[in-house]
Amino acid sequence: MSFPTVSRRYVFLGSLAAAAASRVHAQESEIRTAFIGTGGRGGSLLRSTLAAPSAKVMAVCDIKADRLDKAATLAARDKPKTVREWKELLAMPDVDAVYIATPCDLHVEMSIAALEAGKHVYCEKPIGIQPAEIGRLLEAARKSSKVFVTGQQMRSLTYRAALAEKIREGLVGEVMMVKAQRHSSNDLNHEGGSSDWFFNAKRSGDVLVEQSVHNLDQINWLIGSRPALASGFGGVLKWKNQPPGRTSMDGYTLSYEYANGVKVSYTNVFFHPAGLPGGGAYTYIYGTKGALDCDSCLFYPEARGAEPIQAAVKPDPAENMNEKHVKAFLDQIRGKGKAPAGIEEGAIGALTAILGRESIYHKRVMRWVDLGVNI
Ligand SMILES: NC(=O)c1ccc[n+]([C@@H]2O[C@H](COP(=O)([O-])OP(=O)(O)OC[C@H]3O[C@@H](n4cnc5c(N)ncnc54)[C@H](O)[C@@H]3O)[C@@H](O)[C@H]2O)c1
Repeated sequence: MSFPTVSRRYVFLGSLAAAAASRVHAQESEIRTAFIGTGGRGGSLLRSTLAAPSAKVMAVCDIKADRLDKAATLAARDKPKTVREWKELLAMPDVDAVYIATPCDLHVEMSIAALEAGKHVYCEKPIGIQPAEIGRLLEAARKSSKVFVTGQQMRSLTYRAALAEKIREGLVGEVMMVKAQRHSSNDLNHEGGSSDWFFNAKRSGDVLVEQSVHNLDQINWLIGSRPALASGFGGVLKWKNQPPGRTSMDGYTLSYEYANGVKVSYTNVFFHPAGLPGGGAYTYIYGTKGALDCDSCLFYPEARGAEPIQAAVKPDPAENMNEKHVKAFLDQIRGKGKAPAGIEEGAIGALTAILGRESIYHKRVMRWVDLGVNI
């Protein structure tokens, strides 16, 4: 096999650049991390942390032996300790930062204990599934001097940050309405790795809170507000008792009125036929000057016949929002900037979803103030 010849000059410059890059990494203070819950998402956070400069994996924890083995193998570079009991991990003095990627009903207890043990916390979304417990975590995080980040990693997307800025600058005029959806053509895997808790609404918070928290958080961010009122309808419409005992919805429709007056319409289904147009996820923002497609970043001016305008940088498929989000967490610990999704974003995102869920469960309009959380 022949290789293209590379001039010595480029080899020299290349090695200078590599040396400079490794010096930058060497200057980073080392952060000693540990992971509670090493399933699908925990594994992804672990990979992002291993890819980050100067982050060491000290311990991994899971109650399932196969998950624990897999994580230990993935992080073999750092020879992490493997533990089955999460409190044992929090007692380790040589751990600075903890990732929590367990089923949603465990997030609050684990996060509060981790903060109280003096650890920085990266807790997966939703940070909690009931208002009162979210209030307790909010209080603990506000009191703590440690960093708290939530796994709403879409906040790390460069193009979305640019769009949020453009909207604040008046791109669409006054925002009047948002139409968004998340439509899948199939249900989540009934026998998959997280099926032992995902379909149980008491453990996941229901799919609205577990999954749509991402989409709803994006709306909160883009329009710079949070709901005042919610109403909605939904249930288990197609996948009845599949898997057996299922209590998590598979279809619902929600309406919100936001504190700034914006009206939001959102639907989520798991039975949108693949061939039917209009599937997938989108967010459209309607303003007095026109409408914005928040995925393509195209702005459609109101005037008849006007061409759409590329409103901000296009989405970059090469941008790894997961790695960026983890890096922002580690950087904030080092005192370098503020990660884009902290406790406030986590609490408001989860409460937005919970408000919608409760309106569906109670078949009535729910008010934000009735959630009883001081935020
Ligand atoms: N940010 C995202 O895009 C994203 C994507 C997927 C999942 N998530 C979130 O991550 C969390 C985990 O989801 P997942 O898909 O990885 O689920 P999963 O079932 O694949 O993993 C959860 C792991 O937690 C372990 N676990 C359960 N109880 C435990 C305990 N007491 N101590 C230690 N480990 C325990 C389980 O054994 C399992 O391995 C959920 O909150 C989910 O909403 C976030």
